[in-house]
Amino acid sequence: MAKRSVSSKQREQLLRAARRVTKNAYAPYSNFRVAAAILTSKGETFAGCNVENASYGMTNCAERTAIFSAIAAAGPKLEIRAVAVVNAQGVPCSPCGACRQVIYEFGPDSVVFFPGADGWKEAQISELLPEGFRLK
Ligand code: THU
Repeated sequence: MAKRSVSSKQREQLLRAARRVTKNAYAPYSNFRVAAAILTSKGETFAGCNVENASYGMTNCAERTAIFSAIAAAGPKLEIRAVAVVNAQGVPCSPCGACRQVIYEFGPDSVVFFPGADGWKEAQISELLPEGFRLK
């Protein structure tokens, strides 16, 4: 798949889409409200937030909620071009390892925007997840 760059306008739109759903996060255990938005190869945007559970391991991160919502809405031929992650606290927050693998499944050439220790960071998913697992 050819890498298509994401413009700064698209990045700002994606960040805005993510910020809009931060308030919907269900995070009564950590109080850490996260939201994510993905940009697809068709130019569509889907957003998601974290959904926690009393059985903590059942928690779904914002990134996976966004990806699973995209598939539920638009079908399984999802190609992710970009992912934006935000949180209500404004602290550094890169996608967890499980989410990196899920992003990689649908966007091995995607770019990820997230708050780093020194401001916004931009990284290819292949940098965040070297040697991502694939079956096909
Ligand atoms: N979380 C996300 O939703 N995405 C991330 O990138 C990091 C962590 C959530 C999971 C849990 O609900 C809370 O943040 C604290 O770990």
